[in-house]
Amino acid sequence: MSAVSVFGLSKSFGHLRVLKDIHLPIETGDFTVLLGPSGCGKSTLLNAIAGLEDTDAGIVEIDGADVTHREPSKRGIAMVFQSYALYPTMSVRKNLSFGLRVRSVPRQEVARRVHWAAKLLQIDELLDRKPSQLSGGQRQRVAIGRALVQQAKVFLFDEPLSNLDAKLRTEMRVELKRLHKDLGATIVYVTHDQIEAMTLATRIAVMRAGRIEQYATPDDLYEEPATLFVAAFVGSPAMNFMPGRLISSTVHIGSARLPLNGYRFRSSPMNGQEVVLGIRPEHVQLAPEGQLEAETLFMEPMGADTLGWFQFGEHRLSARLVPQVARGLSGTVRLSLLADHVSLFDPSTEARL
Ligand SMILES: Nc1ncnc2c1ncn2[C@@H]1O[C@H](COP(=O)(O)OP(=O)(O)OP(=O)(O)O)[C@@H](O)[C@H]1O
Ligand SMILES: [Mg+2]
Repeated sequence: MSAVSVFGLSKSFGHLRVLKDIHLPIETGDFTVLLGPSGCGKSTLLNAIAGLEDTDAGIVEIDGADVTHREPSKRGIAMVFQSYALYPTMSVRKNLSFGLRVRSVPRQEVARRVHWAAKLLQIDELLDRKPSQLSGGQRQRVAIGRALVQQAKVFLFDEPLSNLDAKLRTEMRVELKRLHKDLGATIVYVTHDQIEAMTLATRIAVMRAGRIEQYATPDDLYEEPATLFVAAFVGSPAMNFMPGRLISSTVHIGSARLPLNGYRFRSSPMNGQEVVLGIRPEHVQLAPEGQLEAETLFMEPMGADTLGWFQFGEHRLSARLVPQVARGLSGTVRLSLLADHVSLFDPSTEARL
């Protein structure tokens, strides 16, 4: 049984169709991330699951029950909003317990849950402080704690780390991953940060203009993106794209020939078909026998490795290089594209071939 199921969900604001026939089955224990650019409908979908937003069509099920017309408080969910305003005059302890006290949860049970959540989030030393006496990351953890004490089966997070600096984000990512593992809870998590999505998710739904373009594990998304949009959105540094032509299992790009050994076509392509070839920078290598001759442009050091940029005909191509190799590289080089890691797309439909 799915923890959360969304069937045929649609939603408009006036003439603007924000969600278009969304299907999203989420299994118990999944960490599902809704990923996509600003305005694609992530928050609207999360709010629809929470019951904070009416929908025009479709069904939302939680834990096997149809909750489409049920109040948010009756859906068995707990939510962490992007703007996680804590009650400024209350201590951390009171912030954590407030939601339970208004629901008349017995005093001992409230204390037990606050203690449990505080320990889990490592804020047990801070219970008597006011929010103004906390760092950003500590406040964020209190906000997450407020949701955790609800002991819901399903947690909904809307960009919960967006206000934190890079270092804190990384720390909180690790905490959230640990939390998910410890609780075994089902989490639906909104972000537009593809690195956050890749590191946290068990499954990612990539959204674009109100639709889900691909719903898959992070590995599948990365290795076999279903559309050009997904291929371009996921991965940093980004995938390289070059237009070419497919002639008897070989991609022709300008003067270069790239034989495809064992490419798993999703449909049978036509001979002579135009394609867009996608290849990630780590699958472009310097090699004396490489298929492409290119000119070195510049090097971008990234710490553990260096991104090398090259000009091949009218195309600019990046390759992930070992810093020692990249240093001092100049002039004409030969590049090899690893055929096992190529993605091919139909330029008219943008779908993976
Ligand atoms: N109450 C509203 N009335 C009218 N339009 C709305 C309303 N809420 C959202 N929208 C529009 O619906 C679209 C989707 O909004 P939504 O908040 O779901 O995007 P999002 O993917 O969460 O974006 P972001 O990453 O910026 O938070 C946007 O074009 C937005 O302007
Ligand atoms: Mg949003």
